Amino acid sequence: MELQPFHSDIIIEPFRIRSVEPIRFTTMDERRQLLEKAGYNPFLLKAKDVLIDLLTDSGTGAMSSAQWAGMIASDESYAGSSSFYKLESAVQEITGFKHLIPTHQGRAAENILFTTIAKDGDVIPSNTHFDTTRAHVEHAGAEARDLVIDEGRQPRSLYPFKGNMNLDKLEQTIQEVGADRIPVIMITVTNNSGGGQPVSMENIKEVSNIARTHNIPFFIDACRFAENAWFIKSREEGYADKTPLEIAQEMFSYADGCTMSAKKDGMANIGGFLALNSDEWASQCRNLEILTEGFPTYGGMAGYDMEAVATGLYEALDEDYLRYRIRSIAYLGDKLTEAGVPIVQPTGGHAVYLDAAEILPHISSRQYPAWSFNNTLYLLGGVRGVEIGTVMFGMQPNGTEQPAAMELVRLAFPRRMYTQSHVDYLAEVIISAYEQREMLGGYEIVSAPQVLRHFSAKLKPID
Ligand code: F0G
Repeated sequence: MELQPFHSDIIIEPFRIRSVEPIRFTTMDERRQLLEKAGYNPFLLKAKDVLIDLLTDSGTGAMSSAQWAGMIASDESYAGSSSFYKLESAVQEITGFKHLIPTHQGRAAENILFTTIAKDGDVIPSNTHFDTTRAHVEHAGAEARDLVIDEGRQPRSLYPFKGNMNLDKLEQTIQEVGADRIPVIMITVTNNSGGGQPVSMENIKEVSNIARTHNIPFFIDACRFAENAWFIKSREEGYADKTPLEIAQEMFSYADGCTMSAKKDGMANIGGFLALNSDEWASQCRNLEILTEGFPTYGGMAGYDMEAVATGLYEALDEDYLRYRIRSIAYLGDKLTEAGVPIVQPTGGHAVYLDAAEILPHISSRQYPAWSFNNTLYLLGGVRGVEIGTVMFGMQPNGTEQPAAMELVRLAFPRRMYTQSHVDYLAEVIISAYEQREMLGGYEIVSAPQVLRHFSAKLKPID
C-alpha cells in the first residue's frame, strides 16, 4: 500500500486571521426598534447594529499584513513620493498605460476624465454605466448609453459572459450619432449594475476593434478587473493556463485607458486612479487633478493609501484568493438555488442578487418589494444588503415615479472579511425570509429628497 495524495474539493479561506473585529449580536426586538428609528432605511442604521454587513464591497475589505507594513513605511512627501512611484510601477505593469493620475476614489477619476473629454451632445456607450459614471457623463452634458447584450437583462439566463457589449448596437450607435460625437467607448468589468457579470476577452477585443476602426478611444471601468480576469480564466477557451495577471494585461492591452476605484480590486479602504496613454489628455486631466484632487504625485491619496493600493492590486490577482473569492459567492448562490430562492444567475464576482419581484409577486413595484425583503433580512438575522429597485431608480427627473426594470436585493461581499460559517448563517437567514414571504408586506415613503433618495428616505411598512 502506498500513501495516496490527499484531495479535497473544499476551498478554504487562503489566509489566517491575525487581527479581529468583534461583531455585535442583537435580538429581533432590538432590531425592530433600531429599524423603526432608522426610518426603515438600512442606510441610516449604525454599522455597530449590523451583524453581517453586505451593503457594499467598496472599501470595506480586510487588508493584508503586507499592505499594513507598506503603510507604515510610506513616503508622505508632497511631490515625488516614492509611494507614488511604487503605485505607478504596479499600474504600469498590470495595465501597460503610460500615465497614472491618482485620485481619492473611482468617481473622482470619472469626474476628471469626463469633464476633460466630454461635452454637450456627446454620447458615451458602455455595456452598463455604473451610477456615478452615468452621473458624471450627464454632468458633462453628454448622454450615457447602456448597450449590454440581451442576456445581461435576463436574470435566469446562464450565459457565461452576461456583461458583454452588444456589438451590433454599438455599431448602430456610431452610425447614428457619428464618431466625432463619441469621445470614448467604455466597458465596465465586471458589470456591477448588471449583476456583477463578466465580460469576455473576445468581447473586449471586438469592442476595441470597432473603436479603433472609427478612431474612438476605448476605456475600461476597471473596478473589478481581477474578478473579471478570473472568469475569463475559468470560462473562456484558451485562458485556463494563463495567470490572472497575464489575462489582466491582455484585457488592458486592447484599451487606451481606464478608470479605477481601488476600493474594489485595489483591496484598499480608499483610493482610485485614472490611467491612460494619450499625452494630450493626460496633461489636460492633470491640470484638473491639481484643481480638484491634489498634486499629480498623490492626487487624492495619502502616501500610505498609494502603498496599500500598489500591494493590493497584486493581491487581488492571486489565484488562490480569486478561487476562494468567486467560489464563496457561488457557494451562497448554490445554497439559495437549491432552496428555490430566485437569484440572478449565474452568480457574479462580488455579490449575490436576490430577485425580489419573483419572491414577492404580491407586492407591487410601487410598494417596493426589494426594500421589504432587504429589511426582513435585517429583522430576522441582522444582515444588511441594499435594494436595487424602485426606491433607488424609480424617481424620474420630472418628479414622477416609474417602476425600476428589476427589483433586486444586492448582497455584496467585502473582500477577505467573512468566513464560510458566516455564509452558512446568511443562507439560513435568507431561506427563512423566503419561507415566510407570504407574510411580508410593502412599504411607503414618508419623506425623501428628489435625487438619490434611497440614501436618506424615511419609509414605513404598509399595514
Ligand atoms: N464604477 C463601478 C463599476 C463601481 O461599482 C463603482 C462603485 C464606481 C465606479 C465608483 O467608485 O465608489 O470609488 O467612487 N461602486 C460601489 C458599489 C459604490 O457599492 O458598488 P467609487
